[in-house]
Amino acid sequence: MRSPTSLTTETVPSIYQPVPGAFSRTRRFASLRKTRAYGHFRKAKLALWYRIQDVLIFFDIEQRLVTEDRRIFETIVLPSLRDEPSYKHVLFIGSHWYTRWYRAFFNEDTYWTLDINPQRKRFGARKHIVDSMENIERHFAADSLDLIICNGVFGWGLNEKAAVERAFHACHCCLRQGGLFVLGWHDLPDRRPFPPGETKSLKLFRPAILEPVGAPRIVANDEYRYVCDFFVK
Ligand SMILES: C[S@@+](CC[C@H](N)C(=O)[O-])C[C@H]1O[C@@H](n2cnc3c(N)ncnc32)[C@H](O)[C@@H]1O
Repeated sequence: MRSPTSLTTETVPSIYQPVPGAFSRTRRFASLRKTRAYGHFRKAKLALWYRIQDVLIFFDIEQRLVTEDRRIFETIVLPSLRDEPSYKHVLFIGSHWYTRWYRAFFNEDTYWTLDINPQRKRFGARKHIVDSMENIERHFAADSLDLIICNGVFGWGLNEKAAVERAFHACHCCLRQGGLFVLGWHDLPDRRPFPPGETKSLKLFRPAILEPVGAPRIVANDEYRYVCDFFVK
């Protein structure tokens, strides 16, 4: 891994026009969605969905999301990280049905997942933590992790600037010297609360060039405007 001199995390130009609400659920029936009956319906739907997920997990049925950002993340980023022997103690932030199989990339004895939502524990690693990314110093000693992957969390719950500062600062503390911080995000108006390059705690890091990638940033020219940045402590 190499490190260039300048840090570039400005908004990334893309040939695609942002699609407003690309990741949001349909905004039709907005008034219906505010009713108590809809609230109950939604709860029941979610409970059923989690039961179905539990069955799929029980039978170890692997589930994947087929999008361009996932293709990049799963066929370029994760294999590059797996192939770097110095990345042993790994923390993956944010778990979902399509990230459960990522455990295959790492050693299960030294691979942790963390999610603020207790329901997402079922999609996490054997070593899973329910907490906010802001609090990772409660779970890991300073300089103890080799790699932290924060993909699809910034703009997906981790939105408030002060919280983002705390979270990235905590990542910097828990990473060892030379450890890697991977930040995957979507450069869409409704998924980028602010340009992440404005975050002061990110400036504690230096940009990193992951050898097989050959750059400190991957930009997908997809409709979700996926960006993956690499930083080294
Ligand atoms: C889009 S999902 C899945 C992210 C997954 N890492 C990926 O690669 O797509 C975002 C997840 O981040 C979690 N999340 C949001 N804010 C968080 C925070 N402050 N700390 C930890 N997890 C958070 C949510 O609960 C949700 O499960």
